[in-house]
Amino acid sequence: MLGATGSIGRQAIEIIDASPDLEVVALASGSNELGSLAAERGVEHAQVGGDLSELLDECRPDVVLNAVVGFAGLPATLWALENGVTLALANKESLVAAGDLAIGARERGGGQLLPVDSEHSAVFQCLEGRPLETVDSIVLTASGGPFRGRTRAQLEGVTRADALAHPTWQMGPKITIDSATLANKGLELIEAHFLFGFAYDRIEVVVHPTSVVHAIVRFRDGASLAHLGYPDMRIPISYALTYPDRAATAVEGLDFSNGLSLEFEPPDLETFPLLALARHAGESGGTYPCAYNAANEIGVAAFLAGRLPFAGIAGVVVETLEAVEGAPAADLDELVQADAEARRLAESAAGALVP
Ligand SMILES: NC(=O)c1ccc[n+]([C@@H]2O[C@H](COP(=O)([O-])OP(=O)(O)OC[C@H]3O[C@@H](n4cnc5c(N)ncnc54)[C@H](OP(=O)(O)O)[C@@H]3O)[C@@H](O)[C@H]2O)c1
Repeated sequence: MLGATGSIGRQAIEIIDASPDLEVVALASGSNELGSLAAERGVEHAQVGGDLSELLDECRPDVVLNAVVGFAGLPATLWALENGVTLALANKESLVAAGDLAIGARERGGGQLLPVDSEHSAVFQCLEGRPLETVDSIVLTASGGPFRGRTRAQLEGVTRADALAHPTWQMGPKITIDSATLANKGLELIEAHFLFGFAYDRIEVVVHPTSVVHAIVRFRDGASLAHLGYPDMRIPISYALTYPDRAATAVEGLDFSNGLSLEFEPPDLETFPLLALARHAGESGGTYPCAYNAANEIGVAAFLAGRLPFAGIAGVVVETLEAVEGAPAADLDELVQADAEARRLAESAAGALVP
């Protein structure tokens, strides 16, 4: 369990504790100590930071739950895919940054890649067992975040606390800011492209404020299948960890007796430019998605540290994408270099944008 101390990690512990078939053999975090968590659970292998593929080599798990935040999750994603070990993937940044390498590793390794992101788990479930040629397109839903309905001018001066107040999901700080800027949906768009193999023009994003519908798949006969449930990450975490059994969880099913209305609207691409920028980076291919992700990570960190205004996050990404070369990476070393270069450019863009 990688990212054991985070929001997904803590919820996964709850799922694992409720399942007699699941046992944690290794824990990893970024900086928080794991000693007491490992001791409590009798876990022998634990690692704080560093290259997590070393930990995985040591403990050889049957399933890797990658719930690390950010590009730091990449070695673990590639390790699991290359070794044919089932990967329950919450760490979307690794698939966005290294999609081509990850898909190559999955083909060589032949293991399962099970999405933990709720929208992708929903798409996976709607698609399961259905021939891909019967699919017309997929639709990812976005809550719209805390600033839905605002104009660009109304976003000036929003604070860290405003941006961290997500209306429907309780999550770690980085993804919560990504939800406020819609970069999260941009990352998910690229993630969906690599997970399911659809071209970008067959992946749509709609805003759905209550986050009850997680994704929709349209089929060629005009029918659509949707996946619904209260927004609770324990459902997709459990689905990935107990696939194909679909174990029971403590989450309530939907209650229709009090009325349930489902509203959808198009995203406001002008106020939230990071969604369209992600689509553009994805369509450009090569290491553009890697640069998008790196610049966004730098922008979010600078915003959280009070060094950048909210709109500056998109500004940093725009400037970085304009400056990078975006050439495809032949291997992990080249990808790591592309990531480092994008981070360097993003840091300097962030420095120049400080008010
Ligand atoms: N939270 C959600 O509801 C949700 C939903 C969908 C997808 N996701 C995705 O799941 C991932 C985790 O999100 P989260 O919300 O759980 O984040 P979080 O609460 O911030 O937790 C992040 C976890 O990653 C660990 N970590 C950070 N850097 C690391 C490193 N270099 N090596 C090893 N571990 C490291 C952290 O350890 P420390 O505690 O030591 O910092 C922590 O355990 C992200 O990719 C996010 O996009 C989350």
